[in-house]
Amino acid sequence: MSHVLKVDQIHAYYGAAHILHGLSLEIKAGERVALIGRNGVGKTTLVNSLFGFASVRSGSMEVCGKILRKPKAYQAPNLGMALVPQGRCIIANLTVEENLILGSAVRRKGPWHLEKIYELFPILKERAHTSGTALSGGQQQMLAIGRALMANPELIILDEPTEGLAPVIVDQLADIFNSVADQGSALLLIEQNLSLVSRVCHRYYAVAKGQVIEKGIVDPSDIESLREHVVV
Ligand SMILES: Nc1ncnc2c1ncn2[C@@H]1O[C@H](COP(=O)(O)OP(=O)(O)O)[C@@H](O)[C@H]1O
Ligand SMILES: [Mg+2]
Repeated sequence: MSHVLKVDQIHAYYGAAHILHGLSLEIKAGERVALIGRNGVGKTTLVNSLFGFASVRSGSMEVCGKILRKPKAYQAPNLGMALVPQGRCIIANLTVEENLILGSAVRRKGPWHLEKIYELFPILKERAHTSGTALSGGQQQMLAIGRALMANPELIILDEPTEGLAPVIVDQLADIFNSVADQGSALLLIEQNLSLVSRVCHRYYAVAKGQVIEKGIVDPSDIESLREHVVV
């Protein structure tokens, strides 16, 4: 399989609100791709289109060789796609370990299992039996990443994972994302932190007004040229 994601000219809506206007992008197996763009341009709506929360009325989407006609969020892990959602969505009534186990419900084969997640995030092991929402923001983000990895995805989509986190945590996450990609998952990293993008991603797509307006190779020595596409 060459592509883990192929989105071709999609138009996506919430009710009558037309948000994505012919957005296209492609990710090959194992690639590390950034999606950048200011607030409100439609980045999360792309995610919502893939997971069935926005209505796609034309264009096509393909995940790991399967065409998505009427996507449903619960089918995504079986297809090989996992999400670290914007805002993390840790389940409050579950412990850290239960949140992780939730991610493995599909039982796909692959490198990730509970002990391996605990090796990557020792703090989650220490706090395994506390409530997921009792963790700090950075630890909750680690939990959301661990939960997504438990599905052994071919493609992991991270929607603004460093939003609101301290720089020292962002540095740790950059290393984590690289080790995750080294295990073989492709990454779609939706981000506004360009230094993180330059440390993790090889290619980028820039979005404005529901369309890709620029794409190319990430050049760490010229990352400032992408500044116009983000807020800070
Ligand atoms: N559930 C929704 N219903 C209607 N409009 C929405 C909904 N979610 C987001 N929008 C609108 O869609 C546009 C794109 O939002 P979003 O995809 O969340 O942007 P981004 O993730 O790039 O910040 C915004 O104008 C936003 O107000
Ligand atoms: Mg968003």
